[in-house]
Amino acid sequence: MSPDSDLSQNPEDTGSGEDCARDLVAQMTLAEKIGQMSQLNGGSADLRQLVREGRVGSVLNEVNVEEINELQRIAMQESRLGVPLLIGRDVIHGFKTIFPIPLGQAASWDPAVVERGAAVAALEAAASGVNWTFAPMIDITRDPRWGRIAESLGEDPHLCSVLGAAMVRGFQGGAARGDGLGEHGAIAACAKHFAGYGAVESGLDYNTTNIPENELRNVYLPPFKAAVDAGVATFMSSFSDLNGVPCAGNEFLMKQVLRQEWRFNGFVVSDWDAVKELTVHGFTADDRHAAREAVDAGIDMEMASALYAEHLPALIEQGSVSEQQIDTMVCNILRLKFQLGLFDNPYTNPGHFPRPVNARHQQAAKEAALRSCVLLKNDHHTLPLSKEKLGSVAVIGPLADDGYEQLGTWVFDGESQHSHTCLQAIHALAGQELEVRWARGMETSRCRKHDGFDDAVQIARESDVVVMFLGEESILSGEAHCRAEIDLPGNQEQLIEAIADTGRPIVLVIMAGRPLTLQNVLDKVDAVLYVWHPGTMGGPAVADLLFGIESPSGKLPVSFPRLVGQIPIYYSRKNSGRPPSHDAITHIDEIDGKAPQTSLGMSAFHLDTGFTPLFPFGYGLSYTRFEYSDIATSAEHIAPGGTIEISATLHNAGARTAEEVVQLYVRDLVGNVTRPVRELKGFQRVRLEPGQSQRVSFTLHTDALAFYNREMALVTEPGMFHVWIGGSSDAELWSQFEVVEAADHAV
Ligand code: BGC
Repeated sequence: MSPDSDLSQNPEDTGSGEDCARDLVAQMTLAEKIGQMSQLNGGSADLRQLVREGRVGSVLNEVNVEEINELQRIAMQESRLGVPLLIGRDVIHGFKTIFPIPLGQAASWDPAVVERGAAVAALEAAASGVNWTFAPMIDITRDPRWGRIAESLGEDPHLCSVLGAAMVRGFQGGAARGDGLGEHGAIAACAKHFAGYGAVESGLDYNTTNIPENELRNVYLPPFKAAVDAGVATFMSSFSDLNGVPCAGNEFLMKQVLRQEWRFNGFVVSDWDAVKELTVHGFTADDRHAAREAVDAGIDMEMASALYAEHLPALIEQGSVSEQQIDTMVCNILRLKFQLGLFDNPYTNPGHFPRPVNARHQQAAKEAALRSCVLLKNDHHTLPLSKEKLGSVAVIGPLADDGYEQLGTWVFDGESQHSHTCLQAIHALAGQELEVRWARGMETSRCRKHDGFDDAVQIARESDVVVMFLGEESILSGEAHCRAEIDLPGNQEQLIEAIADTGRPIVLVIMAGRPLTLQNVLDKVDAVLYVWHPGTMGGPAVADLLFGIESPSGKLPVSFPRLVGQIPIYYSRKNSGRPPSHDAITHIDEIDGKAPQTSLGMSAFHLDTGFTPLFPFGYGLSYTRFEYSDIATSAEHIAPGGTIEISATLHNAGARTAEEVVQLYVRDLVGNVTRPVRELKGFQRVRLEPGQSQRVSFTLHTDALAFYNREMALVTEPGMFHVWIGGSSDAELWSQFEVVEAADHAV
């Protein structure tokens, strides 16, 4: 958000709709106030009448622009005070032009890509009358079983903070586009799900979370703070139970953290039915009790269920809820309506917007997909495919030519007829020079039949190289779609084995909404390109990468486990008292019978899989070879409040122009609470020609080294820090510096 933006985060600021909101609240009846706090689903019974009576503040899931305009007309002209509606929708990774799933966008490590994607989504959604999206989802998650990992920006607080803020700017407008809320094509964003939802036990959706406050503040909350700093208009509370207090009734989160500590001045909406579900959690006795707890916690607007409408009048009457409390909440909501300019013009004329899925939007979606694909393996330079050297290619798999399945989860408005599939794009690139054969192999990714195998094996035998498109259909990830096993579903592993038996080189392209466990298939294929669910333009992007028109440059935003039993596995783990070590591993098969009782190696590893992930956070190959050298720090010591520069030389030692995501990691060696073995503190995309070198430099302020200590104070402690620069979280090039108290800083 630009500093001169309309949406102030300072509650004392009386501009930006504050006065107008207060004046309006003063004129409202109690029923009208409660109406503002109620959000109903489009198509609900009597919706128009309820709008007319001023009993609805927001509608969600209505995208018919004529209906939205009519609802706005009723609200403006037929309701007593003429208050326009907020029209909410889950515009998660595109509206009509679908971008890669958020986890894929996170793999781009490119805030500009993420911001542009959100801006395109906002523009297309606004053309339908939508003025509020329930995104970004910035839940840190370290559990790929959880289906909602697809919607997330991955496991790391820093990456998620930077990209989440970029998404907020993209939706709401801001410095990059020179506008802001209230400008043409900008919509309000919503930071969700506050907070800790990504930590649901066993990766099971809606499950309990137990997160010590220190961990909550150091890992789960930073992206939300970054969203507030970026000017996010609204927050959504999580469904989940946090340390025994469901978030929709969690005063600590909404009042202490969000309002008091962060001075958030927007409003909070509950998740769907979450106020009513407080009773299901066993937190409240009945609906009335639930409404009271939610209001007390600071849930300004109730989504879907109608407990506020039913019970707030009596609660106020009996004095359990004060009308003043309600006034503040209604003001929070009205302020946004003023900031969006809805009182001046709530209507949408689609003719004033560019056509959805136009060439510019497609190009942005293609670029996002290009940057989000991660090359995990590339033996013998199997990729890129060379049209000159190859005579034929076999394209195999259920996801090669399926315009719907490449879109991913949370695609309410995207239409598969706009999709460009991988098979289509390969045909287009192959032209006359390369013969393309195609077999689906399996009906769906979950199919357990073999009847498509013979055709697939046949075309593999006849071709010089095989490209297999496997993974997960869209419906296997997303809300309520969790998996206990996260391998390639159905008979896919068997299909790979059958094709591998032909001896042809195999390129495996995986579309999926989560990291999959690939250990069983990795040595049967020559190359692996992980493309997530790449969206409308997935096909052309993937084909460009396969044929080397661009080099892959995505990096993993989340660690890939070898086995499900390793979960949670993430790079910024704590060291423990007996840290894992490569020298101290014994494999289960190496243990003698009747072995004496020992604490094998006295280190943290699994007997059946060691301790490393299959692919670490930050990992991703390229068609060129990048080398890092000469790490340097601008000083050996730094005083609190100061900055230090850390730099290294990046060299393109290969034969192709390519982009590298250069990453900076830090370890605080001693802390008042133990600190992770590494933490990402910076990243940059750098494009280099073959043979070119560049000095890449990061400036770190000591505030970036701060953490919440045992007393929950945010501190940068004096002491030694190690620092690494490299192309993944296991970078080896390191240096160190010391943070010293100002007085000690004699040099
Ligand atoms: C999800 C939210 C979403 C809401 C509205 C809920 O089920 O948890 O993320 O915004 O529905 O569709």
